[in-house]
Amino acid sequence: MILVTGGAGYIGSHTCIELARVGHEFVVFDNFSNSTPAVLARMEQIIGRPVIWHAGDVRDPAALDKVFAGHPVSAVLHFAGLKAVTESISQPIDYFDHNVHGSIALMGAMARAGCKTLVFSSSATVYGPEQPMPVAEDAPCAVSNPYGRTKLVVEDLLNELGRSDPQWRIATLRYFNPTGAHPSALIGESPLGTPSNLMPLVCQVAAGIRPSLQIFGDDYPSPDGTGVRDFVHVMDLAEGHVAALDFLTKNQARIVVNLGTGHGTSVLEVIQTFERVSGQRVPYEIVPRRDADIGISFADVRLARELLGWVAKRDVDEMCRDAWRWQAANGS
Ligand SMILES: NC(=O)c1ccc[n+]([C@@H]2O[C@H](COP(=O)([O-])OP(=O)(O)OC[C@H]3O[C@@H](n4cnc5c(N)ncnc54)[C@H](O)[C@@H]3O)[C@@H](O)[C@H]2O)c1
Repeated sequence: MILVTGGAGYIGSHTCIELARVGHEFVVFDNFSNSTPAVLARMEQIIGRPVIWHAGDVRDPAALDKVFAGHPVSAVLHFAGLKAVTESISQPIDYFDHNVHGSIALMGAMARAGCKTLVFSSSATVYGPEQPMPVAEDAPCAVSNPYGRTKLVVEDLLNELGRSDPQWRIATLRYFNPTGAHPSALIGESPLGTPSNLMPLVCQVAAGIRPSLQIFGDDYPSPDGTGVRDFVHVMDLAEGHVAALDFLTKNQARIVVNLGTGHGTSVLEVIQTFERVSGQRVPYEIVPRRDADIGISFADVRLARELLGWVAKRDVDEMCRDAWRWQAANGS
């Protein structure tokens, strides 16, 4: 049985679908601060059977102990946490509380239960702004915001934990830019309030919810001047988690692995692709760069291929198509 913290959230819910597809049993643990139980009903529709779940907070050791006591958990996928870079600058205490304190409470509960296999959601945000691209896992880390700091602190802690007790099997996955939705359009990304990443904003502009999209800067050293990111389909990420879990089952190891496509796509290219595959217009305006933004970021994905046998299969067309299908079916 796999425990999925934050399993009702965007990446967690898609990963649960993939877990079910390959025959893993799982239990979701989520406080629904950025999701709703309705997601679980949608997941049940996709997988055709009930989803086992518990409402609870990862910062609550007693709630975690109860889950471990009630289920034979062999491994944990830890998605629960807060994820908006800008919000983390104004609310650093909340970010450290959910992301660091929550992870510490989870590791404690795992240790008490004798469950020592963990896949942790980290982020490409841990790489500094000045890295040559593609960026590999051994590049120096240099975070520039509280969110990235929380990820790096947990990564450090996981290293120390592994050093203190080699029984721990840990995969730290550094995601690049997750996007898209399940092709059923039953689950997808539904940010509360103003989205903080590109695709939900593109979808909302296409749906007429917002008048236009702001592109922050067109003077980066990319072919069209707009920022470049490594967008990776959320179902590819889901498959990456299952591959990491398989790896940890076979190897007593601790690994840090990038999950991306290895290709950069500019913001303008995403908009053009989206318009082509959706048939919708996405009006935009160019505004000045934001201070903390990195111009160009994409992953060196060789380690994921070598260790996990995982490569991202879906292209930007598919990401845009699935994101729009989800928006059109569920957006208001
Ligand atoms: N989406 C991205 O762009 C991205 C990129 C890199 C890393 N990540 C990381 O991946 C993980 C999942 O991201 P996501 O996009 O699915 O986010 P999400 O907000 O959609 O999902 C997180 C889930 O965790 C739950 N949660 C939050 N705090 C909790 C707590 N204290 N206790 C229990 N549940 C809690 C939320 O209700 C939500 O369902 C996060 O750790 C995030 O930092 C995300």
